[in-house]
Amino acid sequence: MRQTNLISVPSGRFLLPFNIYRFNDKIISPEISEVTRMKKRFYITTPIYYPSAEAHIGHAYCTVMCDILARYKRMRGVETYFLTGTDEHGEKIQKKALEAGVTPQEYVDNIAKKFQDLWKAMKISNDDFIRTTQERHTKVVQDIFTKLYNNGDIYLDKYEGWYCTPCESFWTDTQVGEDHLCPDCHRPVHKASEEAYFFKTQKYLPDLLKAMDDNPKFILPIARKNEMMNTFIKPGLNDLCVSRTSFDWGIQIRENPKHVIYVWMDALSNYITALGYDSDNHELFDKFWKDPDTEIVHVVGADISRFHVIYWPMFLQGLGLRYPDRIFVHGLLDLNGEKMSKSRGNVVSPLPLIDRYGVDAVRWFLAREFAFGSDGRFTPELFAERTNADLANNLGNLVNRTVAMVNKYFEGVTPNISNLGEKEQNIRELTENTIKSYEILMDDLKISEALTKVTDLLNAANKLIEDRQPWNLAKEGKTEELANVMAVLVNTIIVSAKLLSPVLVESAEKIFDQFGLDEKQRSYELNKEFCPFSGTKLTKGNPLFPRLDIKVETEFIQSISK
Ligand code: MSP
Repeated sequence: MRQTNLISVPSGRFLLPFNIYRFNDKIISPEISEVTRMKKRFYITTPIYYPSAEAHIGHAYCTVMCDILARYKRMRGVETYFLTGTDEHGEKIQKKALEAGVTPQEYVDNIAKKFQDLWKAMKISNDDFIRTTQERHTKVVQDIFTKLYNNGDIYLDKYEGWYCTPCESFWTDTQVGEDHLCPDCHRPVHKASEEAYFFKTQKYLPDLLKAMDDNPKFILPIARKNEMMNTFIKPGLNDLCVSRTSFDWGIQIRENPKHVIYVWMDALSNYITALGYDSDNHELFDKFWKDPDTEIVHVVGADISRFHVIYWPMFLQGLGLRYPDRIFVHGLLDLNGEKMSKSRGNVVSPLPLIDRYGVDAVRWFLAREFAFGSDGRFTPELFAERTNADLANNLGNLVNRTVAMVNKYFEGVTPNISNLGEKEQNIRELTENTIKSYEILMDDLKISEALTKVTDLLNAANKLIEDRQPWNLAKEGKTEELANVMAVLVNTIIVSAKLLSPVLVESAEKIFDQFGLDEKQRSYELNKEFCPFSGTKLTKGNPLFPRLDIKVETEFIQSISK
């Protein structure tokens, strides 16, 4: 039961960043419906991307968000496994390879490598990279098909319907409407007919609906669940076509080799084949899937939520396996208001951005600019403005000023704290509350909101400098007050750097270096203590984030969008 006792706050002393409530022994903010219990382990996955073209900022968005969550959980001491990969079969890839004059395998080898290189450049901490052409996957997918077939979940029939080649999906008359457009990608569809295997959806639908009702966090954000219900389930769910005979770049069905397994059954299975499901090497599967004390989170874009929310749980049930805990559906980014698409010459590659601004600026922009779950617009101006506002002016400026002042007034050694004044005390309390709300928001996958709490804290610390004017305290010989201000600033920076470290993977370390922290002092739990760092010796580093000229950078980013 939810209790809503406001935390007592000494009146007038401290303005809370937002209303905070207690729930059992945890503190929650009103925007959070229910506290998420942290499980012992965490398994997080991105969609496996089509290596039909090179990755763009949209693919990077999803992967970075998952990486932030994986790094956050590891920082909290949760045993974490983070999977990404490439989805390499299907008609579209076969056609692309033909156009390029190479075999499909050569084609995907080349692009899968580029995805992997990009993730390295973006400092993605994935534990594995699955490719659906690997034997560890293909063999198990054949077994999965056989199991479901033997269960009576799959039957052979003939398919006649509207086919969307880019989405590799068949649609009904009602779904394509009078314009005959794909309901997912809105491109024209064509009539097609072929012998195919089908997966029975009605058998598992009642259990799926029950799970959706029983667990309000199964599909997030909640609006996505309603979308699934209204668009796909309520109008009547068809059985799902799970094989093709019109092309052969896919996993053959053992029982009937002229069929290949339709790409979604192949693709979705990656989440368990990568863990060693149904193989001799199933230790990871036992730990990260079977054990109910593992929180399983699939993060997917809104374009593919249907497959994850409806069919994947059904396949799992057919195999006698548990559902994932959460399917988080993130929004799609467009570029200057237009859908990103390589063929339209309308994509931004992350690599030139990383080269020019550093990996942290790119990661930061993606994580902070867009509310995770909502659609977003990438524009060159937004990128430059966001980098300046948060990284150069707020964080960077605070670090530079604090380091300079501790060097000037205390010979580079963080001073001790004595009796804090009111303003310093307020920052201390704000710091402690920021940690609490950050953790709750991150556990609830509200990444951008969690980061905003930290930037609010940094703003407050910058304001402390304006309010207390340390240079005047120094002039007036108020050494103790000056020491308190400096120590509080140092502490705020270190705590913020730790909270931001899942995003700012390079800069957080640079900050710890500048503030002279040893390995132990960098640990997350220690940073929750207030000011344990007096006596550390600061070193002068280079400014973390140079201020950008918005006009020049806007032109640059525009020039690399193609
Ligand atoms: N191969 C399937 C997924 C199979 S998962 C079992 C696929 N691949 S994809 O290459 O098209 O990638 C889709 C995912 O990439 C989206 O769901 C989304 O996570 C990410 N994005 C691709 N373009 C994007 C944007 N423009 N904006 C945000 N994310 C985007 O579908």
